[in-house]
Amino acid sequence: MIEKILKLKRDKNAIILAHNYERPEIQDIADFVGDSLALAIQASKTDADVILFCGVDFMAESAAVLSPKRTVLVPDLDARCPMAAMVTRDALVAMKREHPDASVVCYVNTSAAVKAESDICCTSANAVEVVNSLDCEEVLFVPDRNLALYAARFTDKKIIPWDGYCPTHHLILPHDIADARMRHPGAEVLVHPECRPDVIDIADGVYGTEGMIRHAAASHSDEFIIGTESGMLHRLEKELPKKRFHAVSPYTICPPMKTVMPSDVIRSLENLEHVVTVPEDVREGAKNALDRMLAVKRGR
Ligand code: 13P
Ligand code: SF4
Repeated sequence: MIEKILKLKRDKNAIILAHNYERPEIQDIADFVGDSLALAIQASKTDADVILFCGVDFMAESAAVLSPKRTVLVPDLDARCPMAAMVTRDALVAMKREHPDASVVCYVNTSAAVKAESDICCTSANAVEVVNSLDCEEVLFVPDRNLALYAARFTDKKIIPWDGYCPTHHLILPHDIADARMRHPGAEVLVHPECRPDVIDIADGVYGTEGMIRHAAASHSDEFIIGTESGMLHRLEKELPKKRFHAVSPYTICPPMKTVMPSDVIRSLENLEHVVTVPEDVREGAKNALDRMLAVKRGR
């Protein structure tokens, strides 16, 4: 299968981008594995004809927004982020009317239509920097309430959070952290900013997925409890084989990140399916929000 994928990639001049949460076998055949920010940057600068995106819907859509001349493919149309579905364009437009002086920051986990209604986008790696880059006093932050509350810890601006959440990260509870610490005494606890505030309060560090790798590489600790989606363990173990990583709980799985298998990659490249498209009027507005974000430096 790997040989077949390599040949198809050459024949179609394709690259495979995969998120850190994808299955290990998908990460291992990808040309590039990373967090939402790194994947968006890769998509914006590739010269391949075809980008095969192994991730969830909003990530592939962002690639199509940033790289309109490339063919962006997803192997599975059902790989959709439930948090991204928690804010619609119409609901955001209505909320903007209630807060006319607020700037809108949308998490990258949103549809292109929501991005087009936002002033700037952010990812978990730059949310604080993006909020603080704005010349305004009020920020309407969609859709992740937990990330909004996390960013609010590091700014004087008034943050108005949307009521969305990630079902996977929201399920990590303070007692999961306490139990994991009992199983692995002395291990550093790293959690994602999509976690609930009471989990963030008791963690040793809060990082997006790429930030976790950078921190674990630089840290004096050699053992870590990882409070994010389980696919992250493969990436960490591969990059840092001398260190040990433990899942915070066996239930931290994002189902849409696990749907793609190598056979889907083959079918997708062979048939050039499913092509992701964004209407041009939406694309322009979404690109504006993404471009503004890409001009802000990476944080954690
Ligand atoms: P990262 O940008 O940190 O990889 O997070 C993406 C995501 O969907 C987290 O749930
Ligand atoms: Fe969406 Fe949560 Fe899955 Fe990330 S982990 S893609 S936020 S459902």
